Amino acid sequence: MDKLVIEGGKPLSGTIVIQGAKNAALPILAASLLAEGTTTIDSVPHLLDIDVMLNILRELGCRAEHTDDTVVLDTTSAHTSHVPENLMKQMRSSIFLMGPLLSRFGEAQVYQPGGCAIGERKIDLHLQGLQALGAEIEEVGNRIVCRANKLTGADIHLSFPSVGATENIMMAAVLAEGHTTLSNAAREPEIQDLQRFLNAMGAKIMGAGTDTITIEGVDRLTPCRYKVIPDRIVTGTVMVAAAATRGQVTLQETQPAHLSSLIHVMRRAGVQIVVDGDIIKVGSSARPKAVERIVTSPYPAFPTDLQSQIMVLLSLADGVSILKETIFEGRLKHVDELSRMGADIRVDMNAAFIRGVPRLYGATVEATDLRAGAALVIAGLAAQGRTTVEQVHHIDRGYDRIETMLTRLGARISRSSPVPQAPNL
Ligand code: UD1
Repeated sequence: MDKLVIEGGKPLSGTIVIQGAKNAALPILAASLLAEGTTTIDSVPHLLDIDVMLNILRELGCRAEHTDDTVVLDTTSAHTSHVPENLMKQMRSSIFLMGPLLSRFGEAQVYQPGGCAIGERKIDLHLQGLQALGAEIEEVGNRIVCRANKLTGADIHLSFPSVGATENIMMAAVLAEGHTTLSNAAREPEIQDLQRFLNAMGAKIMGAGTDTITIEGVDRLTPCRYKVIPDRIVTGTVMVAAAATRGQVTLQETQPAHLSSLIHVMRRAGVQIVVDGDIIKVGSSARPKAVERIVTSPYPAFPTDLQSQIMVLLSLADGVSILKETIFEGRLKHVDELSRMGADIRVDMNAAFIRGVPRLYGATVEATDLRAGAALVIAGLAAQGRTTVEQVHHIDRGYDRIETMLTRLGARISRSSPVPQAPNL
């Protein structure tokens, strides 16, 4: 297993362009199945999760190539609606294939994507939405089979604005007969990106970005070329890293509106942030201030995917901050690791009480999930001494070579891969 070795204490500085958004690219790749032919997607980052999605699409009969940051995907010879269990288990986002497969083949055979380090992550809202569009669902053990001779538009209300369920239902409804209204829909920017992509293929969707999405079914979709939005979570990760190391970083080609809750919190912490068009400049030279209360909630509120990263900044702040996680029940596991680096954090239920310390110290720590791993990297960059982050494969799911990106900003960070053992003859 790879490790990241970080010599901390050096302020980040420089200019960087951020990768395309993983959470936009994954549903867009799945949605490409809805049109027969060759679709080209630009700004697709090289990540483990993207590799898994492309492998699943190949297994379904598609041809997929990922060179530079462009994916060329020919879906013409897709021939099966069965996603193999071993691939399904590698990534929760494989569930995005349910809607497109059901729409294209009248059937989707998938498996429970399995638990996850950050919480239970049910899929009941996905299944209820597909049922409302006319699918029959059979669950035997881990296996889920959805069938529908015909999908018909419906009025669907989500009891919680789930990002994945909103996207799955949109993908199943675009080719359904008639009108679908999805209320209490999630409003994340990645959903707006999926709407733009589907509409570029000929769909008729309105309302993404609000809590009501309307979809007028069309007969067919045609392939297109599309560029994915910049990754707001990677942007936010670099912003927090710049502040935690008391550096000066300029991020180009961003969408600052997608980060307004983070910008607001960081400014409250005393970090200087200048927004100029699609450029965000982050600078900090003093110790951050504590922020009384931050609560993670669906967009546009503070994102759960930046909770662990902001916790590092607050660990270094002057005063006590409270950070409450409301989206995933198991998403405070990084607290133990940060404590090993000298952070003073007490957890009570889903709230972390963070008493800032003047400095963190290098240690050997373990990435327990993707964003927790990113937080430990930030902590390592800010800490005094050497930090080794283990289980880097979690980080590789969402950050395109994080060490290369941070080295460009002057960080002292390197990857160490295990030396292959010579076989015993
Ligand atoms: C997406 C993001 C993930 C982010 C999350 C919340 C992708 C690929 N992943 O995940 O990075 O952390 O949004 O912003 O876009 N739930 C149910 N039943 C369901 C679906 C969800 O109870 O059928 C619950 C989940 O257990 C969780 C909450 O709803 O507690 C949020 O989940 P959801 O919004 O669906 O997140 P994902 O789409 O899995």
